This record gives sequence, structure tokens and C-alpha cells, in this order.
Amino acid sequence: MFAQTSIINPFPIPVWIHLVEAEQAARINEAALKLVAEAKAAMPPMPPTQQWQTPNDLQTRPELEELNGLVEVATRGILTQLGVEYGSFMITGCWANILPKGSQPHPRHTHPNNYLSGVYYVQVPKGGEGIVFHDPKPQTNVIAPRVRAPNAFNSRQATLPVQPGMLVMFPSWLAHSVPGHDGERDRVSVSFNVMFTQFAEELSKPRWTFEAPSLEDGEQGS
Ligand SMILES: [Fe+2]
Repeated sequence: MFAQTSIINPFPIPVWIHLVEAEQAARINEAALKLVAEAKAAMPPMPPTQQWQTPNDLQTRPELEELNGLVEVATRGILTQLGVEYGSFMITGCWANILPKGSQPHPRHTHPNNYLSGVYYVQVPKGGEGIVFHDPKPQTNVIAPRVRAPNAFNSRQATLPVQPGMLVMFPSWLAHSVPGHDGERDRVSVSFNVMFTQFAEELSKPRWTFEAPSLEDGEQGS
């Protein structure tokens, strides 16, 4: 018999969840809803079930300074936890997503050219409490037996329940989607991307050190 069995998870995919303190979340949510109302007033008329996004430079708006600050604190914590070297980072884009009652699903997508992405939840009516993450290993579906009960090892997607005041962050390459929304009020979230500020200058250079081969033993390079 086995004296012991264990399992390792060698390439885990992290999704970081931060819950903002209630008072601060209330302030941020109020500011975000005001920005959304302003943005809607500037939009052309839309069908009532049309999901829409605000302009994507909300990180420059003073009204969202408090949220930006939280994203920066969370990012520093994540980069420290990941143990990666970095000089500085910046929020490269930030926008609100509005899903009215009856809106279609927000299809599966990634956020290219960034390192971390995230969503802060402003207003989550009943029926809109999920974000779905998709397995980034397509080959796992080659053999897909029926399962007795879904778990992290036999599922190709994972739904994270969300709530107002929750800040969720994940690698930008991790595909995600949002189901259609049928709650009574708009589902409102603020998405953002984070990237190293001077990626090419600081981080894109080869990670290995060049050393000229020694030809003393008569070998010739090919
Ligand atoms: Fe997204």
C-alpha cells in the first residue's frame, strides 16, 4: 500500500480577490455611478438591453483616484507575491461596463498587451453575480469524460461569484466572460489593465547573459 499520497499543482493560475472596506466602497461606487451617468448622457440613444462601455481612460479621472489607489496597492502586493522584478507599472486603461436587464453575454476575451487585468464591482443586482474564467489549456478537452460532480480538476471553466466592493485581479491572458444579465437594475463594473511602465527598456532584453564560446578545444560554432 502507499504510505502516503499527495498532489501538486505545478502551474497554478491565480485570481486575486480583494474586498474593499464598506465605507470606502460606498464612496467609490457613488463616484463610479456618477461617471457612468455622465457617460451615458454623452452616448447616442441605445436600445434598453444594449450593454455598453464608457470611454477607456477613466484612470485619468480624479473621481476614480481612490479606486486607482487601491488598484496600485493591490498590484504591488501581487507583483511582490509573484516575485517578479519590475521598476514601475501603470494603469493603461480603465472603463466601466454596463449590462442592463436583458443584455447579452459579454463573450470570452483576454486583455492583450498588459500583464494584469482586473474588475471592480460597483453594482451587482441579483442574477448578475458571476464572472466566468476559462481554462487556458485547450488540449484538456481532447478526452473529456462525463463527470460525477464538477471540481477544479475536471472543469474547463470556473465561475467566481462577485459582489459590490470586490476587486478581482488576474493575469491579462486569462480568458473570461460574463453571462447575460437579467437582473432588475444595471450591472455595473469597472475594468482596468496594468502594465510595466517601461517594458521594452527595462524588461524585454534577453534574460540570459551572453558569453562567447571558447574554441580552445577545436569546436566550431555552426
Ligand atoms: Fe475583460
